[in-house]
Amino acid sequence: MGVNLSGRSFLKLLDFTPDEIRYLINLSKELKGLKMAGVPHEYLKGKNVVLLFEKTSTRTRCSFEVGARDLGMGVTYLDPGSSQMGKKESIEDTARVLGRMYDGIEYRGYSQDLVESIAEAAKVPVWNGLTDAFHPTQMIADMLTIEEKFGYLKGINFTYFGDARNNMGNSLMVACAKLGLNFTACAPKELWPDERLVEVCKAIAQENDCCIRLTDDVREGSENADVVYTDIWVSMGEPESVWESRINLLRKYQVNKEVMSMANKDAIFMHCLPSFHDTNTVIGKDVAEKFGLTEMEVTDEVFESKQSVVFDEAENRMHTIKAIMYATLK
Ligand code: CP
Ligand code: NVA
Repeated sequence: MGVNLSGRSFLKLLDFTPDEIRYLINLSKELKGLKMAGVPHEYLKGKNVVLLFEKTSTRTRCSFEVGARDLGMGVTYLDPGSSQMGKKESIEDTARVLGRMYDGIEYRGYSQDLVESIAEAAKVPVWNGLTDAFHPTQMIADMLTIEEKFGYLKGINFTYFGDARNNMGNSLMVACAKLGLNFTACAPKELWPDERLVEVCKAIAQENDCCIRLTDDVREGSENADVVYTDIWVSMGEPESVWESRINLLRKYQVNKEVMSMANKDAIFMHCLPSFHDTNTVIGKDVAEKFGLTEMEVTDEVFESKQSVVFDEAENRMHTIKAIMYATLK
């Protein structure tokens, strides 16, 4: 039977079968092809979506805006500074109101439970644009990017370096398990993912002929890796006071030339972005002054190298978010 995601919310990959995720990747390729060829695809003309952002964003917001416009839809952006959201009205009440005006709602915020209850309340598809626990739209872009580079996903050795219990570590572990990539989290034990999620992912991985591995050994994590992935060490919403301890825990897990030279010869480097690979940011400068570190999760050399596919990955956010909106609203 064909896949039909019409009317569904997109809150975390755990809710989707491998066939459904595959469908979204294929649809993204089709929509990317149309965009590249300059073929209009205003398939959802007359519909409207609203984007709720409780945390800041560049890629996700712009991907939803451009994707929606390419599909012929109207778009409204709201944040706490420009609406009643969260101050004079709960997010759930806001969503109930917006569900009566809009055909779909994007939400970026803190708790996963909240985005789940927004989806219950809104009665229209809700898309999770990132919570503390998961970042599912990023996953479709990342998997599309890997498939574009290698031609396949099953059997790819994928290693994630850094805070493996944040939204990216969690989501990548689920995505790899669902799609048959061998996932390794390379991180200090303090930052390993929640054991219950690891168990769930191990069971999913077994069904898809792949494995989940956790290690605190950089050599073990690097050797045989086809994809080397990292994320910022302190996520949005965490207090500034955690920087020092996080730097101490993670500095030896920096993705640098040594890591890339232990990985497979044709390995690629990925990062969801934004990234602290130099001191050209306010936080980057501040960390350099306080802790004497001019590059954090990845060195500038690796970030700028031929192996780095981070900007292809960022572009794919738009094609894949467009596919998620189209699949769930058509
Ligand atoms: N990768 C990502 O979600 O980027 P933004 O925070 O800029 O949306
Ligand atoms: N872990 C990061 C991801 C940003 C896209 C954060 O939550 O800030």
